[in-house]
Amino acid sequence: MLTLGIETSCDETSVAVLEGLHKVRANIVSSSLLRHKKFGGIVPEIASRHSLEQMKLVFQESLKKARLKPKQLSLIAVTNRPGLIGSLLVGVSFAKALGYGLNIPVAGINHLEAHLAINFIGKKIPKKYIGLIVSGGHTLLVLVKRGKFYKIGGTVDDAIGEAYDKVAKMLGFEFPGGPILDKLAQKGNKDAFRFTEPKQEGLFDFSFSGIKTAVLLEIQKNKTRSGNKQFQNDLSASFQYSVMNWLVKKTIKAADYFKTSHVVLGGGVSANSLLRKLFQNEKNIEVFFPPIQWTSDNGLMIARRGAELFQSKKLFTPVSASPHALSEWKSAF
Ligand code: KG4
Ligand code: ZN
Repeated sequence: MLTLGIETSCDETSVAVLEGLHKVRANIVSSSLLRHKKFGGIVPEIASRHSLEQMKLVFQESLKKARLKPKQLSLIAVTNRPGLIGSLLVGVSFAKALGYGLNIPVAGINHLEAHLAINFIGKKIPKKYIGLIVSGGHTLLVLVKRGKFYKIGGTVDDAIGEAYDKVAKMLGFEFPGGPILDKLAQKGNKDAFRFTEPKQEGLFDFSFSGIKTAVLLEIQKNKTRSGNKQFQNDLSASFQYSVMNWLVKKTIKAADYFKTSHVVLGGGVSANSLLRKLFQNEKNIEVFFPPIQWTSDNGLMIARRGAELFQSKKLFTPVSASPHALSEWKSAF
């Protein structure tokens, strides 16, 4: 089975080919990130126009890399939710037309589920696991049981990646600031500043807007030092230590609560060095991380989730993949 995976939910345009469930034949990614930098965040219209320009080229490049002709494909998997609606429309329209022309099924894929699914290329899927999805737009805890997703909790305000990007901006760094703060944090003192863990009503919910304000207050209090390297390193280290410990603590609590020892991470922030270290130190947990190059959005994760669903005998038609900006799962409670 050869699955084509198409991803255009945000600033990436990506097409991959997966053979069976484990053999990567191609994964081509074209990003518009550089075009958004001067605006300090993703501009939806720029992202969708970039996908429109790139879609066909990336598709052709991917088939060339995989040494395939379109008619050899068995299935098309395309992100149809959640995401920027203009960007989603580009990928979904392309997928539907291609599926119709080739007379093969088109599977509409939940982008967040795909972020976790990419972990299982070359590995066996645990029957039950806790998923932690951490990106610029999402911070979600899910329970996955026999392939079905249930929501456990999530952020009540900012996403974790968004908090990283905003703190980095306050310190004068460019977008996206997550990887920059992660590097600075490794040179800083995590005990230099103390941040209080926020309390939410939901047992498994998160909040990152309070720490963002607390960081801003520290920067204002230390105005004369805010450009100082040691101050930036220490503030990054203290911020990173706090938010990552909050994430890990609640994820482990969820694993205990739902009686599983498997934790699966996905999304751009799962590249974070401290997050990886903290989970690796948890002795009673088997943790899955995507390889760093697969943490950000790509077509391969979409192909993998599509192939999984297709093999579990889900039926798809060429026109069944309508785009939706939002998505929800049933509650785990
Ligand atoms: O999943 P992703 O590529 O795009 C979406 O938001 O959908 O995630 C991007 C986010 C950005 O906020 C970026 O700052 C953050 O992931 N990020 C990191 C790291 N690498 C990327 N945050 C913390 N530590 C990192 N090493
Ligand atoms: Zn994503």
